[in-house]
Amino acid sequence: MIASVDLNSIRAQFPGLGLKDEGRARVYFDNPAGTQVPQQVIDRMVDVLKAKNANLGGYFRTTAAATALVDEAHQALADFYNAKDPQEIIFGQNMTSLTFHFSRCLGKRFKRGDEIILSRMDHDANVAPWLLLAEDLGLVVKWLDFDTDTYEFPDDALSKVLSSKTKLLAMGMASNCTGTVHDVAGFAAQARKAGALVYLDGVQYAPHYSIDVQSLGADVVVSSAYKWFGPHQGILWARKDLLEETFAYKVRAVGDGELGHKFETGTQSHEGMAGCIGAIEYLEQFGAGETRAARLKSAWGVLAEHEKDITLHLIEGLKGFKGLTIRGVTSANAMHRRVPTVSFTVEGVDPEKLAKHFARENIFVWSGHNYALEPVKRMGLADKGGVLRVGLAHYNTVAEVDALLSSLHSALK
Ligand SMILES: Cc1ncc(COP(=O)(O)O)c(C=O)c1O
Repeated sequence: MIASVDLNSIRAQFPGLGLKDEGRARVYFDNPAGTQVPQQVIDRMVDVLKAKNANLGGYFRTTAAATALVDEAHQALADFYNAKDPQEIIFGQNMTSLTFHFSRCLGKRFKRGDEIILSRMDHDANVAPWLLLAEDLGLVVKWLDFDTDTYEFPDDALSKVLSSKTKLLAMGMASNCTGTVHDVAGFAAQARKAGALVYLDGVQYAPHYSIDVQSLGADVVVSSAYKWFGPHQGILWARKDLLEETFAYKVRAVGDGELGHKFETGTQSHEGMAGCIGAIEYLEQFGAGETRAARLKSAWGVLAEHEKDITLHLIEGLKGFKGLTIRGVTSANAMHRRVPTVSFTVEGVDPEKLAKHFARENIFVWSGHNYALEPVKRMGLADKGGVLRVGLAHYNTVAEVDALLSSLHSALK
C-alpha cells in the first residue's frame, strides 16, 4: 500500500478508472503508452477552452488570461524538471516532434565526420531523428549496447564508443520495453567530459521518478505529459546557454527576445499546457515541502514505493509460468533499477494473441515492438512478434495484477 496515501482516494480522482463495459471493470496496464488523467486535468483544460481561449500578447481580457496561463505553465514545468528558469522550458506537440525539431537545430553545430552515440535500448523517437540527421550531414553513428542477459548497459558501454570526435550522446532514462532505468547521470558526466552534448529521453522515467535537471548533468531532457497523467503534450528542457547559442528554425519575429518561445513553432496547445498544470497539481498532493519542486520530488518517492510493491508482485507471479521469460530486471532488491513496465515472452506463444485474449477480459496491454525497434531486434524478437508489455502505474492495484495473472493462466492452459 502507498505510504500515507489511500489508493481508493487516488482512483476516485480518475474518472476513467471507474468506467465499466458490460459490467466489467477496465484494467489499465497500457500506461507506458499513455496514462489516464485525474479530474483536475480535465477541469483545467475545459476552463481554457471555455474562458481563456485566445492568442497571446493582446490587450483584451481573454488574451491576457491566455498569456498568464502560458507563463504559469512554463513555471510549472520548470518545477517539474527542477529547472533553474522557466525560459528553459519548451512546449511542443509530443516528444517525437520536439526531438525531430531540436535535432535539426542542434545539427547546425555538427559537421561531416563528427560522431554521435545512440542507444540500442531506446524508443525509436530518440533514434530515428538522429539517424536521419546523420544521413543528411554525413555523421558517424556509434551505438551504446546493452547486455541481453541483464538488460542493462555494462559499465564500459560508453567508454567503448566515446571519442574526441563524439558530439552527442542520445539515450533514454528508462526503457519503454525492458523497463530498465539507466545510470544516465554517470553516462552524462562521461560524455560531457569528452565534450559531447547529452540528449535524454525522459518519457518513460518521468511517470515514475522525479527528474532533477540540475543534478543530471545533461543538456536536454524531454518527456510527454500524457505518460504522466496529463494531456497529449511534449515538454523539452534545455540548458539556458545552450538555447541561447543554438540556431532555431522559426518564422521571423516570433519569439524574439523570449528564449523558451524561440523554439516553440506556431500557436501552442494552451489547453494542453493547462492540463499539464493540472497533472502537476495532482502529483503535488502526495508530497511535502516548501516549494512545488520539493513537493514533487517527495511525491514521486511516495508513489514509487507502491509501484515497487505491485511490480514485484507481478514479477513473482509471472515467474511461476513455464516457458515465460521476463525481458528485464527481476530481482527483488533491484526494483529501483527499473520502472514498472514489465515485458515478457512465452515460448511458442504469439504476444499479439495474448494481447487479444487480455482485451477480451477488459485488461489493456500492448504487444509487439512498441517502437522499441532496436531493443526488440537486439533481443532477437523482431520476427517473433516482439513482447507482451504490462505497464503499471501508481493507481493500479494488487487485485488488478492478480486478475492479469489469472487470465494468463487460463490463456496458457
Ligand atoms: C521512451 C519513449 N520515448 C519517446 C516516446 C514518444 O513519445 P511521443 O508520443 O510523445 O512522441 C515514447 C512513446 O511511447 C516512449 O515510450
